Amino acid sequence: MQNETDFLIIMPEDDEQQVNERQLMILNQAIEGYQVEIWRKAEEFTPVRNRRILFVLNLGSDGINVEYQRLLRVMRHSPESLKGCVGSILVDADSELYTKAEARELVFAANLCGCMFPGKPLVEGTASLDNFLIQARNLETDRMGAYKKLARNLIEQLIAFELPLHERPKVLAIHASNRATSNTLTLWGKVKQHIEQDCDVQELSLQNGSVVDCNGCPYQTCRHFGETYNCFYGGVIVEAVYPAILECDALIVLCPNYNDAVSANISAFINRLTALFSRTRFYNKAVFCIVVSGYSGGDIVAKQIMGALNMNKTFLLPANFSLLATANDPFSINKIADIDQRAEDFAQNMLRHLRKEPDA
Ligand SMILES: Cc1cc2nc3c(=O)[nH]c(=O)nc-3n(C[C@H](O)[C@H](O)[C@H](O)COP(=O)(O)O)c2cc1C
Repeated sequence: MQNETDFLIIMPEDDEQQVNERQLMILNQAIEGYQVEIWRKAEEFTPVRNRRILFVLNLGSDGINVEYQRLLRVMRHSPESLKGCVGSILVDADSELYTKAEARELVFAANLCGCMFPGKPLVEGTASLDNFLIQARNLETDRMGAYKKLARNLIEQLIAFELPLHERPKVLAIHASNRATSNTLTLWGKVKQHIEQDCDVQELSLQNGSVVDCNGCPYQTCRHFGETYNCFYGGVIVEAVYPAILECDALIVLCPNYNDAVSANISAFINRLTALFSRTRFYNKAVFCIVVSGYSGGDIVAKQIMGALNMNKTFLLPANFSLLATANDPFSINKIADIDQRAEDFAQNMLRHLRKEPDA
């Protein structure tokens, strides 16, 4: 049965926590005029299809919301429970810590349940609201004014979101691995063979030493270079990566796990996107990733990509955006029993999020 409300609010309510009046005020003005359904307890969580969902998290002063932990447990046991849904997230804490980390955890868990997220799907309020200082200046208001405005914009973005589909999607794969030995590139090869018939696939290699990390130029300098699709350091990032990013419909980042993080060149690539980002937004481009770890921690690396490129840099996050595998010795990825099937399933998921179905 079609639900009559505009969207669903999932707002875990911990009875041991103080009511967060500030968050309720922000929420109420953000949803004014909309019809909403609200779930407050983890036990209310049931599979839904094609809904718009606003997750609202109150983290108090210690970052702990027991009802949210219960919700996470239910979600982690329900892999397809949010198929076709689109999510956004509003987080508030009486602390300077926890908001980003918990938001990332929740987006990752919901994404594994099949939920998509538009670019920049989070509005967070730390205790001081100092996280709004830059936006308040840009919007010519104070911190609370920025909080209210951005929370309202978040709802409008959630309602308006449409997944862009393409006749022949352009997919850009970025890596910094050695083709002769890399498990990650081998896994990408297994995915690529299932998409290249329907997509234009471009691969860019950022091998050791070719990418200098971001210089952290003053904003005006960064913006000045960005105006002409340039950056202080120039090089492969400006000559090859920026044009390819502007051209693509989807970016797939290929990440071996290095100390539970992306490797230095991938990290530098993300940081160097800042100059391009100063004049361009990426809301119409999807981000995917493949992570291979020697033993564990692939979820941490996927969350790093998701946090940087979806939550900060505005790429849209398709459902199940990451393919994670464990393999250490060169090419041992080939020994994982179901790896070919997992690669094919991931490729089909990419196509579902990118390709316009030909008219029947
Ligand atoms: C510098 C370095 C750091 C690594 N750190 C981790 C780690 O923290 N966790 C892990 O599970 N594997 C770690 N590994 C192992 C790689 O993730 C593993 O070899 C994987 O197969 C990498 O894929 P590749 O063959 O594409 O390089 C590390 C490897 C290197 C070279």
